[in-house]
This record gives sequence, C-alpha cells and structure tokens, in this order.
Amino acid sequence: MIRIHEVHKNFGNHIVLNGISFEVTDNEIVVILGPSGTGKTVLLKIIAGLIKPDSGSIFFDGKALDQMVPDEIYELRKQIGFVFQGSALFDSLTVYENIGIAIEEHTNWKRGKKQERIKQILEIIGMPNKHRLRPKDLSGGMMKLVGIGRALALDPPYLFYDEPTVGLDPIMKSRITELIITFRDRYQKSGIVVTHDLESAQLIGSKLYMLKSGKIQKISTIAKEKYE
Ligand SMILES: Nc1ncnc2c1ncn2[C@@H]1O[C@H](COP(=O)(O)OP(=O)(O)OP(=O)(O)O)[C@@H](O)[C@H]1O
Ligand SMILES: [Mg+2]
Repeated sequence: MIRIHEVHKNFGNHIVLNGISFEVTDNEIVVILGPSGTGKTVLLKIIAGLIKPDSGSIFFDGKALDQMVPDEIYELRKQIGFVFQGSALFDSLTVYENIGIAIEEHTNWKRGKKQERIKQILEIIGMPNKHRLRPKDLSGGMMKLVGIGRALALDPPYLFYDEPTVGLDPIMKSRITELIITFRDRYQKSGIVVTHDLESAQLIGSKLYMLKSGKIQKISTIAKEKYE
C-alpha cells in the first residue's frame, strides 16, 4: 500500500503541489484527473521517487521513501512500473529491446528466461509479431502498448500510468482501458492512473481524485461491481 502525506512542490515561486495526501491500498487503482499543467505528472513522478518533493513523504508499506538507503530504492524501482506520458520509448531500440530495458538493467536472467518473459509480454499487449519494429514504425496506440509492456516487464506490484489513453482512437482507448482492468483484476496490480478520459477513469478507478490549484480532492467513490 502507498501513502502520500502532505507533499509540497514548488518550481521557483510557482506552487505546484500544496499539501497532497491520499492513499492507494492494495489491489486498488486510484485515478487522478485535473486540468493541464496542474501538476499530475509531477505528482506521479514524486510518488515513484523520480522527483524529490520539497516536503512531505511517500510511504510504501509503511516505509518512507526518503528514509530508504540506495539498495532499498533500487529494490523499490523494480516494484514500480511507470508508463510515461508520450510513451518515452528509445527510438534506436526495437520493440523487443524497449520492453527488455528493465530486465537488462535489474536482472541477471539468462537469455532464455529473458526471451520467454518478453514473448509473454508481447502476447499480453497483443503485439506478438511486432518485436522487430522500431518506434518510428508504430502508431501512437502501439507505442503506448509498448510503454505498458516495458512497465510490466519485471511484473511489478505497482503500475503508474500517465495519460495512457490520451490522443488515441476509441478502439485503442478501450483496448488499453481493458488491459489496465485486466492487470488490476487478474494480476492484482495496484497503482495510479492520471487521465483526462472520464469514461476510462470510471471504469478503471475505485477512487477518483481531482488535482487543482495545488490541492487534491476526492470527487466520488465508484463501486467497481457496478461496471463489471
Ligand atoms: N522541471 C520543471 N521545472 C519547472 N517547472 C516545471 C518542471 N516540471 C513541471 N513544471 C511545471 O509544473 C506544472 C505542472 O506540470 P505537470 O507536467 O505535472 O502538469 P500536468 O498536470 O501533468 O499537465 P498535462 O495534463 O498537460 O500533462 C506546470 O506548470 C509545469 O510547467
Ligand atoms: Mg502530465
């Protein structure tokens, strides 16, 4: 479980986050909505430990991120899959290599095991024959799928998605929304989804929050069962 406690972040005299607190319990996906430029990406990166807050703390299963020693932070990195806004794939690498980045960085797996896992991921994201392509050969939706596959590589318990469906056609939107729901229900992934897409937000999230003017507010609790 993740607890976010009184997080503040300014850039110069621009106050972006002004005391943010909420929790993500196990097997739960929290959705964060909010206008553009309001600090959603900054918040998500702070929770994942990619940006430091000015004050406040993030706790993973009760352990404060800012108290962790480098080894613990390294371990935590493996526990979090991050799907970046705009996918952030490496242009010079193939789909296969992009998906394998975390495996290369964090494991000593033998070639066979690596191949097996990447093949499995290609199946999960529905791109079994696209492993040789490079980002320039992919549609926006496929790039998102590869970004999701990359986040999933080490089977982390937490998945953070930054705008996973933005700019996609309705079919791709529902495909990605369904994947996120599958990860939640079948693989028990917890996490946070930042989105502007209210329809997908309502399907995915057990709690919805609005981030605005540096503050976060719960906007409703949606019974999951209602949408299944
Ligand atoms: N490294 C930085 N230095 C200075 N300002 C920054 C930095 N990163 C973000 N900001 C500012 O912080 C604010 C929040 O940015 P952020 O990217 O989190 O917004 P967002 O809610 O994700 O927007 P969008 O919906 O467009 O993705 C913006 O005003 C942005 O310009
Ligand atoms: Mg953003």
